[in-house]
Amino acid sequence: MRVGVATLAITISGVATLASAGANADSLNAAPAHVDETRFSSEREAVMWRQQELKDIESLMRQLRFDLVNNQDAQSAKPRLKELKERASADNLMPAFIAGTHGPGSDARPELWEEWERFGAGFHDMEQHIDTLIEAANAGEYRAAAKALSDTGRSCKSCHRQYRYD
Ligand code: HEC
Repeated sequence: MRVGVATLAITISGVATLASAGANADSLNAAPAHVDETRFSSEREAVMWRQQELKDIESLMRQLRFDLVNNQDAQSAKPRLKELKERASADNLMPAFIAGTHGPGSDARPELWEEWERFGAGFHDMEQHIDTLIEAANAGEYRAAAKALSDTGRSCKSCHRQYRYD
């Protein structure tokens, strides 16, 4: 009997480990299948949230071009870079792409759910350029920062060409 209980305990802890590993990686390994798996109260809300978030990211990028290229002012850029890193990330954005939330009201192409890993790779590419951007800005290397800003913008456009309707 004791042995039986111990075996059961091991089995349960094994399952728990698997389950939590799945939950930690959910934003990267698979799209949320249903709104109940997300913090959103409806699919519509998730679509509107991600569109507003992306608009805000676009205006942050514009402000950063002004700070770093026009004004060469790394000090003003600093808080905006921090915000960009948090918001323009796979972790922040991917959970809002609930499976099937394309169609009216969204410009997302349905292929992004079929190619979820590749879609994720697009965000990771963008994140790497943002890291380079932050390093350059912190070092006051404005030419390198300008290049990293352009590279970041290119990674936005590259994903849009593949996964967003014009
Ligand atoms: C890996 C893919 C991917 C990357 C990277 C990406 N986007 Fe997008 N973006 C999308 C998709 C998909 C949509 C369509 C969302 C929708 O309408 O549901 C979108 C929509 C947008 C929109 C329109 C929002 C609206 O008003 O409806 C803007 C603005 C935008 N992205 C800006 C950016 C900027 C700026 C970057 C880079 C810093 C970026 N995106 C990086 C996939 C991406």
